[in-house]
Amino acid sequence: MKPGALLSVLACAFAAVIWAANGDDNLVPPRREVYGNGRIFDISHRYQPEMPEWESNDGIGQFLWLPKSMKNGSLANNSEMKFPTHTGTHVDAPGHVFDHYFHAGFDVDTLDLDILNGPAMLVDVPRDSNITAQVMKSLNIPRGVIRVLFRTLNTDRRLMFQKEWDSSYVGFTADGAKWLVENTDIKLVGIDYLSVASYDYLIPSHLVFLKDRISLYKPD
Ligand SMILES: *[C@@H]1O[C@H](CO)[C@@H](O)[C@H](O)[C@H]1NC(C)=O
Ligand SMILES: *[C@@H]1O[C@H](CO)[C@@H](O)[C@H](O)[C@H]1NC(C)=O
Ligand SMILES: *[C@@H]1O[C@H](CO)[C@@H](O)[C@H](O)[C@H]1NC(C)=O
Repeated sequence: MKPGALLSVLACAFAAVIWAANGDDNLVPPRREVYGNGRIFDISHRYQPEMPEWESNDGIGQFLWLPKSMKNGSLANNSEMKFPTHTGTHVDAPGHVFDHYFHAGFDVDTLDLDILNGPAMLVDVPRDSNITAQVMKSLNIPRGVIRVLFRTLNTDRRLMFQKEWDSSYVGFTADGAKWLVENTDIKLVGIDYLSVASYDYLIPSHLVFLKDRISLYKPD
């Protein structure tokens, strides 16, 4: 970038700060989802009380408090939040279903950032099935692809926007997970609801994926 260009960027940023500081009742926070002309997509869900929570009808409820507020004389606004780590857009730690990984300290901090970041393939899954071995085979995902986001019926049903948790979501069956591990190079699996495993195969599918510590990211 030329120095001139950098200066004008700085001037713009400065102008934006002044504009914000002048106060404006019509301030609208920018909530961009696409950056760098499509190089980066922010597909994480915004936390809000109605966001669904595992096996709950009431959503996550209040998760944010403001113990320090300028209105009450504090120097700054400071929020506090509390919710289960399995909430909203999250990755599963290897210790999620394996005690030996849990005790050895395999938390999310041990996941490989080179796997978690980078180009990903978005695949539409047939809408009339869970992700079985047969479905996986039919998707023809080429060798060499390591990150795949699976878009399913969950997205059509807008399940991430329903407060009531729904056990009929689409996810991997155990044989679908096994097929993926044995026949593809995928190391990051993303899905569009709270679990990568379908409800009927909850633990068996997780065991297949997390045995070799594949990264499970959800929901997309
Ligand atoms: C600080 O919190 C108050 C609520 O107590 C809110 O009205 C105000 O907008 C907040 N200020 C900033 C700078 O976020
Ligand atoms: C300010 O303090 C009062 C009294 O403790 C409390 O009722 C109120 O909720 C506080 N407001 C904020 C924005 O923190
Ligand atoms: C996927 O499996 C769940 C149970 O695990 C079931 O309720 C749901 O109907 C299945 N979805 C499809 C599209 O077959």
